[in-house]
Amino acid sequence: MKILAIMGCRKDGNTSEIVKYFESKMKSLGEVNLEYLYLSDYPIDFCVGCHNCIFIGEDKCPHYDAVRGIENKILSSDGIILASPGYMFSVTGIMKNFLDHVAYNCHRPKYFGKKIYLISSCTKWQEKTVFGPMEAWTSAAGFKLSGKTYVDMLPLPFNDKELNMRRGKLDKAALGFWSDLKTQAELKPVMGNIIVFHVFRTLCKIAPNILRADYHYFKEIKAYDKNSKWYVPARISFFSHRFATFMEKKMEKEITKLIDIEKLNGETQVYKNKL
Ligand SMILES: Cc1cc2nc3c(=O)[nH]c(=O)nc-3n(C[C@H](O)[C@H](O)[C@H](O)COP(=O)(O)O)c2cc1C
Repeated sequence: MKILAIMGCRKDGNTSEIVKYFESKMKSLGEVNLEYLYLSDYPIDFCVGCHNCIFIGEDKCPHYDAVRGIENKILSSDGIILASPGYMFSVTGIMKNFLDHVAYNCHRPKYFGKKIYLISSCTKWQEKTVFGPMEAWTSAAGFKLSGKTYVDMLPLPFNDKELNMRRGKLDKAALGFWSDLKTQAELKPVMGNIIVFHVFRTLCKIAPNILRADYHYFKEIKAYDKNSKWYVPARISFFSHRFATFMEKKMEKEITKLIDIEKLNGETQVYKNKL
């Protein structure tokens, strides 16, 4: 089994220690080939906010070569680990910069069904805000979130009881990820994911000349066909589909009310309103 661990942390710190323990537990369960991808070894300049990836195409990002290298590794792996310690109640800067560069996947997801596990070295007070950005990307980019685990590591020597508690937590986590990787599951998007599909599909229809890359993507996946329910075939209940379709119509009306259609029709660039 090929696993890629994307590490937004230093190489000799607590997060690395946690992921290495997690790896050893997984290896005790069966054949695992885990590659560590330290983001510090793959320097990507800061996202400059040009929006090219979102509106025109990811290949128009000034840092595309570096980003593509990592994305290709993700695509060729069976499972992904995303790891970051908690710094200032968030992910590290290097992890956030990576997430900014792959954020366009939230508009045009491609990692359907790929299993991902989130790991952090942080306290319980940081858990929600550290996992927040990683979880947002994971969910919108199409991954299946297998689980997430944080371990609090004080910079003081723990006694055996405390160390064993942390090991036990990671043993359980590794077993969960391992079992999930072994299972072939049907795609079952949650309501939020279904609504996001409908929202972006409508936005592109309203402004195909501005949201060019998204519109192209939605057309390619035949999202405007009558029977289309989601990006790819998935189990979606009749109720969820009807509700999301209702919300889409409602939203289309609301957004159309906000727009100057004449200006919209003449525009082909990323648009910025002037106040
Ligand atoms: C720049 C920086 C910011 C941090 N911010 C927080 C914080 O906001 N809250 C907290 O409880 N710990 C904070 N910490 C402590 C780390 O979360 C903790 O030491 C973690 O285990 C570090 O993991 P690492 O060794 O993989 O870098 C911070 C540490 C650093 C270096």
